[in-house]
Order: sequence, then C-alpha cells, then structure tokens
Amino acid sequence: MSALEILLWVVVPYVSLAIFVVGHYWRYKYDKFGWTTRSSQLYESRLLRWGSPLFHFGILFVLIGHVMGLGIPKSWTDAAGLSEDAYHALAIGVGAIAGFGTLVGLAILIYRRRTVGPVFSATTRNDKFMYLVLTVTILFGLSNTVLGAVGHEGVDYRDTVSPWFRSIFYFDPQPELMTEAGLGFQLHALSALVLFAIWPFTRLVHVFSAPLGYFTRPYIVYRSRDEQLGNRATPRGWDRVGGGRR
Ligand code: HEM
Repeated sequence: MSALEILLWVVVPYVSLAIFVVGHYWRYKYDKFGWTTRSSQLYESRLLRWGSPLFHFGILFVLIGHVMGLGIPKSWTDAAGLSEDAYHALAIGVGAIAGFGTLVGLAILIYRRRTVGPVFSATTRNDKFMYLVLTVTILFGLSNTVLGAVGHEGVDYRDTVSPWFRSIFYFDPQPELMTEAGLGFQLHALSALVLFAIWPFTRLVHVFSAPLGYFTRPYIVYRSRDEQLGNRATPRGWDRVGGGRR
C-alpha cells in the first residue's frame, strides 16, 4: 500500500467527512440566520421554473442510485435473484436519464445565475466555487456511466468503488480497491470528496432544512391583543405565540 494511496483514499475521505460534519455544526451554531437556499425566485422565475425541478428531481434519482449502488453489496442483489446484466441495465438506464436531467437542469441554473444581473450579484464566492465542483463531479459521474454503457473495458465499480466506500464507514478502510477502480472513478470520487468538504460553507446546507413544520402548522398566524380569540376555545395548533403585551 503506497503513501499516495493512503493519502487519497483514507486521509482525504476522513478529513472531508469530518469537515462535513463539524462544518455543519459550526455553521448552524454561528450562522443560523444565514442557513438558507439564498432563494432568488423574486428576481427571475421563467428559467428557474425549468432548471430547478430538472436539477432537483434528477439529483434525487442520482442519490437513490448511489444509495443502492454504493450501499447494497453485490452479494445481496445476487441473492435476491437480480442478475448482473439486469442490475447494470437498470442502473445505466435510470442513472443516465437522471444524470442528464441533473446536468441539463444545472446548466440552465448556472446560465440563469450568470446572465440575470441581480441573481449573479446575490451569488457568494463560496457558491461560485461550489457550482464548479458540483458540475465537475456530475460530469465525471456521468462519463463513468456512459463509458460503462458503451461497454468500455472497465472494472465493475461494485467490486471496487462500492466496497471501498463502505469500508470508510466501517472504519476498516481498503484504499487498494480504489487503485483498481481506474482514473474515471477516482476523479469522480475525489471531486465528490472536495464537494463534501465545502458543502457546509455554501447554500447546499439547505438540503438539511426540510420544512417539516409546514405539514402541521396553521396556514396563517393571527395575533390578537385579547386573551380570548372570539368566543370559542382555541383550536389545536392555534395557541398564542410567546407571552406579554403584543
Ligand atoms: C464519494 C462519493 C461518491 C462515489 C463513490 C460515487 C460513485 C459513483 C459511481 C460508481 C458511479 C457510476 C454509476 C454507474 O456507472 O451506473 C457514479 C455516477 C454518478 N455520480 Fe457519483 N459518486 C459519489 C458522489 C457523487 C456526488 C456527490 C454527485 C453529485 C453531486 C454524484 C453524481 C453522479 C452522477 C450524476 C453520476 C452519473 C449517473 C447517475 O448515477 O445517475 N456522485 N457515481
């Protein structure tokens, strides 16, 4: 095992994941009010209406694909009776459509961000760098899928990349597996690790702020000076907010 192998496939992943976790904690603690998508819908919505759903639905399916491809060992899908060919046909079909959707969506979003003045002005330096790393990661990922689909002489990522990825979380890293994986997968994984390290300092934090309260909150909050709202008992979810004089 070489020093470079250990650096790239053990040190970099753990440093990246540590920054990801501690960085989110730090950002939440010290920049709670900056924890936002930095929405720009007010400035422009025509391009956003196409770019945003394409990107977000695309990336959702890419995520589901990664959870399956990286998280589920090959032996499990074999045991479930899913043949190798059927697995790859499914992964390449769904993966390529989802990947292209994501890429086209992202291209529209970046074009919009660059050409619509107020949107560009509202883009932080960190976010500009994040768009670059995100684009590169998606391009490398998609090129791996496409090369796999046209049958290039490659290694099966479920024998190399996936067990390496899981080994990181078992705290039993196996860097040599990534050396076998080939350059395309190596570049994709490395750019993803850079993305994870910068994630907490960009607008990507919004991924972890699902507005779950929206399902249960009243659709509008009325405030009244009176203790009693009308002559009926206060319905559930409409309790007074805070105390003292309003
Ligand atoms: C260390 C983390 C990651 C690993 C090990 C990894 C691994 C892989 C592998 C093995 C493939 C090929 C799938 C196939 O040929 O069917 C792939 C494809 C892809 N990856 Fe990743 N990936 C990682 C993170 C990411 C991230 C963070 C993004 C996007 C932000 C991303 C976006 C893509 C895309 C768009 C594809 C192409 C097709 C698809 O799966 O939909 N990957 N990735």
